[in-house]
Amino acid sequence: MRLLALTAPDPHVSFRDGMNATTASGARKRIAVIPGDGIGKEVIPEAVKVLQAAAVSGGREVALTEFDWGADRYLRDGTTLPADAVAMLHRDFDAILLGAMGDPRVPTNIHAAEILLGLRFKLDLYVNARPCVLFDERFTPLKDRTEKDVNFMVFRENTEGLYVGMGGNFKKGTSDEIAIQEDVNTRKGVERIIRFAYEYAKQRGLRRVCMSDKSNALTFGHDLWQRVFKEVRAEYPGIESSHQYIDNLLMQMVRDPSQFQVIVTSNLFGDIASDLGAQLAGGLGLAPSGNIHPGQVSLFEPVHGSAPNIAGKSIANPMGAILTVGMMFEFLGWQAEAQAIDKAVRAALKEGTTPAELGGTLTTREVGDWVANSIAKFGVAG
Ligand SMILES: NC(=O)c1ccc[n+]([C@@H]2O[C@H](COP(=O)([O-])OP(=O)(O)OC[C@H]3O[C@@H](n4cnc5c(N)ncnc54)[C@H](O)[C@@H]3O)[C@@H](O)[C@H]2O)c1
Repeated sequence: MRLLALTAPDPHVSFRDGMNATTASGARKRIAVIPGDGIGKEVIPEAVKVLQAAAVSGGREVALTEFDWGADRYLRDGTTLPADAVAMLHRDFDAILLGAMGDPRVPTNIHAAEILLGLRFKLDLYVNARPCVLFDERFTPLKDRTEKDVNFMVFRENTEGLYVGMGGNFKKGTSDEIAIQEDVNTRKGVERIIRFAYEYAKQRGLRRVCMSDKSNALTFGHDLWQRVFKEVRAEYPGIESSHQYIDNLLMQMVRDPSQFQVIVTSNLFGDIASDLGAQLAGGLGLAPSGNIHPGQVSLFEPVHGSAPNIAGKSIANPMGAILTVGMMFEFLGWQAEAQAIDKAVRAALKEGTTPAELGGTLTTREVGDWVANSIAKFGVAG
């Protein structure tokens, strides 16, 4: 491996060297790195460390370019998502690794919405994939549950629903105020996420898909989910399809998570269900996610936010961000490297090499070092 400086693809690049190694197979992958705010800036360097260790072990060639988009940049010069960012990411990158967005100094969270939701919407990253996999039974808050009980994927629709920002206020700030937030559900949007969930199940040999909505109360938007679900599920007779209202789903996830293999739901419900799933699997700091448009540049980020309450203390768990790199490698077709990351994190958990969130004493950096060293030592096929 040798390090080389990359030419910045746009003037908003803050810094970063690219990494180059002779490839065993496949072309060089170009990855944009956006640490963002709060603990994003602490966990992403550890994720990058592990990314580099796995890429080198696997003989992969990776070029990293870091972008300074986030609260500091916004407070400095008003930039949220630069005007040319979406076209540039589309053109020049294979994947994006993001930390988290959100900073108490920006109470409106405008920068976070414009950067993160802007990327999800403008890159049309319609699949939010959030695996909930328990690596070690000691870390689930559920009684008498083991790794085999908590092992499912939540597919959250990622470009529509209540997150599109349509709505407004009337008589804001008065006692007569009206606030409207629209829930947008399109035939195309609902169909493609449900279909993706079934295709995922089919390709992985999984037997069960559960669609969750609130069609008993949301009789227009979620009636569309019901009708599309009935159509799509008929195309997959080999897969057991079920439906649960979101309130029941959340209760069932706690009561008996082993009934789920694939859950597919709307943007808001998926956001909530996947945080619950993350906790069942050990904690938010362990949860990875992918914002995916198959075949196009896609964005990978830990599920957690910027955690201002622990930012700057070096205690954030970087494992979610590290496992996110594994998801990104899988998306890039680098299965062995993805598995090596998975295996190293499992080993760290088994050995109790953990940060405070999981009852350990290691700092964020020490966890990253341990996982990277483990991969360097055992290699990607080890
Ligand atoms: N995708 C994102 O960028 C994203 C997601 C959620 C929240 N946010 C933003 O983050 C900010 C804080 O939001 P929040 O407090 O609701 O959610 P959060 O995920 O930042 O934190 C929730 C709780 O989990 C803990 N936690 C989160 N990640 C952890 C980690 N890696 N290690 C150890 N503990 C961890 C935090 O300390 C906190 O107690 C807000 O501005 C919010 O809008 C951003």
